[in-house]
Amino acid sequence: MQALAPRPGSLQIDGTLGGGGHAVRILEAIAPDGRLLGLDADPAAIERARRRLAAYGSRAVLRQANFEELATVAAECGFDPADGLLLDLGLSSDQLADDARGFSFRAAGALDMRFDPARGEPASELLGRLDERALTALFRRYGEEPFAGRIARAIVQARTRAPIATAAELAEIVARAVPARPSGRRYVHPATRVFQALRIAVNRELEALETALAAAVQVLRPGGRLVVLTYHSLEDRIVKRFIAAERRGCVCPPELPVCVCGRAPRLQIVPGTPATPSAGELASNPRARSARLRAAERLAA
Ligand SMILES: C[S@@+](CC[C@H](N)C(=O)[O-])C[C@H]1O[C@@H](n2cnc3c(N)ncnc32)[C@H](O)[C@@H]1O
Repeated sequence: MQALAPRPGSLQIDGTLGGGGHAVRILEAIAPDGRLLGLDADPAAIERARRRLAAYGSRAVLRQANFEELATVAAECGFDPADGLLLDLGLSSDQLADDARGFSFRAAGALDMRFDPARGEPASELLGRLDERALTALFRRYGEEPFAGRIARAIVQARTRAPIATAAELAEIVARAVPARPSGRRYVHPATRVFQALRIAVNRELEALETALAAAVQVLRPGGRLVVLTYHSLEDRIVKRFIAAERRGCVCPPELPVCVCGRAPRLQIVPGTPATPSAGELASNPRARSARLRAAERLAA
């Protein structure tokens, strides 16, 4: 909230509505007449948020949409220009807790992992379709998984017996394929990186993020704030590089003696950011352990 600095009467966009926790705080801060546009790719999240935010009436405008459609949806809903945009990436606790979505290692329901169940291919289909090389590349690229090859081989072997249908089955195959973890380290489930990789691929998460960041600079008015919460290094790197490029402005090759592109900086970093959770926050909310917050302010250029 400090980084977003939403003022009373302003127009704010929450691109990842989830359970509506941030949305409530923003709506309170922009009272009495500020409005919030809330997006989520997941229809179930929109449904829940609609109930939770009903008290705010027409001040809360909710749309089921992928945030890669930000430019279009913001314009359609009268939020272009906007004063702030929040992206709190990844999946919500509600999605993790829903066995039927296949996000958690113990889930006995279908291995789906789509934020929007009406769009794209479920994780089980992707896992059944890709060959060993493609699976290895996927786990390396989106999971930075050191045992990608072994895991891919184990999956290909397992699916000759029967398709891998549930998250719990996949978690077990991965756990059996990798060496035991060194003792003394904090426990992280051995399938964490594989699950991350599949989720990123199924939802095209990195592409959607790049598109949304580009749209954010178009939609935000000068002085408007962009705040992004990331939970792993791949998405954080994208946000970091994007902000760095927009701070620099000029895209001329370094060997040119003078700038010929004429591009001016469009973002500046919000003081106090990037930020990570304090020890106190981690104690009360361990799920924040990998969170990193980056924030930038739109310049007049
Ligand atoms: C970490 S949760 C957000 C939690 C929320 N800030 C709150 O206070 O409850 C992330 C949410 O973003 C949604 N999401 C992830 N990627 C998305 C995308 N590309 N477009 C729209 N929604 C997305 C997920 O469905 C999920 O509900």
